Amino acid sequence: RAGDGSAGMGRFSLEPLSLPGLALATALLLLALCLRARRTRRPGEPPLIKGWLPYLGMALKFQKDPLNYIKTLQKQHGDIFTVLLGGKYITFILDPFQYPLVLKNHKQLSFREFTNKLLMKAFSIKKLSENDEMNDELHLCYQLLQGKSLDTLLENLMQNLKQVFEGRLLKTTSWDTAQLFTFCSSIIFEITFTTIHGNILAGNRKKLISELRDDFLKFDDKFPYLVSDIPIELLGNTKSLQKKLIKCLTSENLAKLQGWPEVFQMRQDILEKYYVREDFEIGAHHLGFLWASVANTIPTMFWAMYYLLQHPEAMSAVRDEIDRLLQSTGQKKGSGFSIHLTREQLDSLICLESTILEALRLCSFSTTIRFVQEDLTLNSEIKDSCVRKGDLVAIFPPVLHVDPEVFEAPEEFRYDRFIEDGKKKTTFYKRGKKLKCYLMPFGYGASKCPGRFLAVIEIKQLLIVLLTYFDLEIVDNKPIELNYNRIMFGIQHPDSDVLFRYKVKS
Ligand code: HEM
Repeated sequence: RAGDGSAGMGRFSLEPLSLPGLALATALLLLALCLRARRTRRPGEPPLIKGWLPYLGMALKFQKDPLNYIKTLQKQHGDIFTVLLGGKYITFILDPFQYPLVLKNHKQLSFREFTNKLLMKAFSIKKLSENDEMNDELHLCYQLLQGKSLDTLLENLMQNLKQVFEGRLLKTTSWDTAQLFTFCSSIIFEITFTTIHGNILAGNRKKLISELRDDFLKFDDKFPYLVSDIPIELLGNTKSLQKKLIKCLTSENLAKLQGWPEVFQMRQDILEKYYVREDFEIGAHHLGFLWASVANTIPTMFWAMYYLLQHPEAMSAVRDEIDRLLQSTGQKKGSGFSIHLTREQLDSLICLESTILEALRLCSFSTTIRFVQEDLTLNSEIKDSCVRKGDLVAIFPPVLHVDPEVFEAPEEFRYDRFIEDGKKKTTFYKRGKKLKCYLMPFGYGASKCPGRFLAVIEIKQLLIVLLTYFDLEIVDNKPIELNYNRIMFGIQHPDSDVLFRYKVKS
């Protein structure tokens, strides 16, 4: 038996509280929650909306129909207001001309403080909060997702796509039916994993990939709960899934992959500088990066495909554009997988790009969140607003994405919305002034997604392959909506999967 101290601890944690003890603990908890909810608006602060539910505040209303709820608050209170949501006071900034307030005050509005907590909860990455130097170095790796390094990643992507599709192209020309979201998840996971980590050489490649993918997708399903305040221990098998995935991504296991890309090599070198090579937490970092690279790419691919399948005029315009490019580059649609396109050629596909951007406009709820490190006044031409230490500030672009002043008939899917006079359209206006930011699925400022170029290239390549080699049709035409489970975290999933069918073109 351990000494007195640990025996005491054991008694405390293992024995259930007596009834009076439990009542006292509950009363104290409620008191603490009520005190937090009793907050009143101070002079200079934005309007405060906290409802009557302690802790939860307006979370239930927000969760039910986030966009309309925030738009209603905007009508009542203007473009800046503070809402209590699940124990957090969040000051929303809705006017796009006020977004730069977050950049101007970047010293007091911390990105890392917020993200490090999230990385700890979701992936068990602990060291980042105490080691700014490692954090800085890891951020430097993101350069390797652009420029020349991106060209190499693009080549790898095409090779990996070829590996996925070559077998399927040999199949006879009969229809195969599949669930669209599941189909997109499967392919995006495989090509992204192998492009970012290198290829699996083992004979049982397919089995290894599908096991990893299935575990990853189950883990990702739990993500919205993982980043809430619910302890991971209460989330069923989530902790064991997380552990299993981290174990798959340890230095020892990843050493078996062939042809590490530069970005992965550099990340691993940095991690080995700050941890011993065998440290489990190295795998946790890789899980975080893997999540960032696929979790939003999957639903984006889904929505782009879904809208194309639902809009024949979009499908035929995009198909024509791809055909013209393949013709002009001498790549006829012969048998076998023979497409090879450079970054410039992919970039010239403006109709395809506009389709992807339009899908992102309609389905992205990416929110830029910052932690307020000290009491602060956000000075603006319109109105100064004081924000409190410990609160969060959020730029919430979904409201901008459906602003009829910026996007005509915003509820409609228009595949050519981002095209003007045969070129990419980049000028959008509000109150007669040109907007610097009009589409923000990839975040803003210091935390803007470094993988955005790769993501768009990947989705373009996959759509080119699917549209070139396959006939595609939607099977069930039931209406689908966004599932707001991941509100504030990127691209929303659909509320149900949809059946579609595909066959190799004859
Ligand atoms: C359509 C697909 C994607 C979308 C919509 C997306 C969106 C985002 C957003 C909104 C953020 C910022 C989060 C914040 O402000 O806290 C972010 C961060 C990040 N994304 Fe993406 N992303 C996508 C694909 C990718 C890909 C393919 C990669 C990697 C290859 C990637 C790597 C990252 C990383 C590493 C970060 C963290 C950046 C940091 O710590 O500063 N993303 N992404």
